[in-house]
Amino acid sequence: MPRVFVAGSFNVDHVWRVATLPSPGATLSGSYATGPGGKGFNQAVAARRAGADTRFVCALGLDAGAQLARALCDADGIDLHAATADAPTGTAGIYVDAQGRNCIVIGPGANAALDAEFVAHALAGVAAGDVVLAQLESPLDAVARALDAGRAAGATVLLNPAPANVAIDETMLVRADVLTPNETEFAALLLRHVGERIDADAVGNLDQQRLHALCRELLPHGSVVVTLGASGCFVSHADAEPRGDTATFYRVAAEPAQAIDTTGAGDAFNGALAASLAQRPERAFIEHVRFAGRFAARSTEQAGAALAMPHLVVE
Ligand code: RIB
Ligand code: NA
Repeated sequence: MPRVFVAGSFNVDHVWRVATLPSPGATLSGSYATGPGGKGFNQAVAARRAGADTRFVCALGLDAGAQLARALCDADGIDLHAATADAPTGTAGIYVDAQGRNCIVIGPGANAALDAEFVAHALAGVAAGDVVLAQLESPLDAVARALDAGRAAGATVLLNPAPANVAIDETMLVRADVLTPNETEFAALLLRHVGERIDADAVGNLDQQRLHALCRELLPHGSVVVTLGASGCFVSHADAEPRGDTATFYRVAAEPAQAIDTTGAGDAFNGALAASLAQRPERAFIEHVRFAGRFAARSTEQAGAALAMPHLVVE
């Protein structure tokens, strides 16, 4: 039974919907809601709701946030492996503007205590055919151990290099079979690893041949999926055939959506991509990307992060 293993963060999100995003010195008023989030948890919920057997490995405090995480994993049927940390469960302050754009401040709390040994233990059962997925909201040695566990077992290893402000080195990149930056993260990776300065807003308009060449420099052996929000995504492979695709690079258009809140849309994409790869390995890569795009589009039509994940199962 192929499974998805997600190692990463759980946050309690505090979300204010505002007309415009705050600027320094501003006092604004907006409607408030709280709900579960964290890139790791959002991706685990997405993978589970896309139909995959999903294990989520994280660190929680001993507080109401931790109880929320446990209750939600029970409700969704996620196999939770949570270390208990002597720190508050992670939090995020999120502002969402009238266009559905957001800005986020994270208080890592317990997430900062996710231990590499704990992760290795929780991923000891990973097997070939499984998918391991991690992000950068956890200590990097823990992220590395998750990816290593996947590689050692012959699983497919996905690294979502988010958020963009976390710097990783080449040794982290080379652990991934599939890298899934958004345009901001892609621009940050290019600057650090390829020495190319490209404006995040310009990424989607770059010539595809050029984008492909940049992706090849970034991850010579693997696949890069650059997510471009409402503009869909760009996919670059080292070699098309093993992935079942007919081209080594291509654009995939976004699924139309009535977006009201894009928080967690990238997480929706990553979790759904992992679930599709795990459940339908025989399919061409482009089919997995299309499914992930449909799943992410639906997630933007609901407010919130983890709870906005649709129940859209890989057929
Ligand atoms: O990707 C969205 C997530 O980023 C939010 O749920 C927030 O918790 C932060 O981790
Ligand atoms: Na949403």
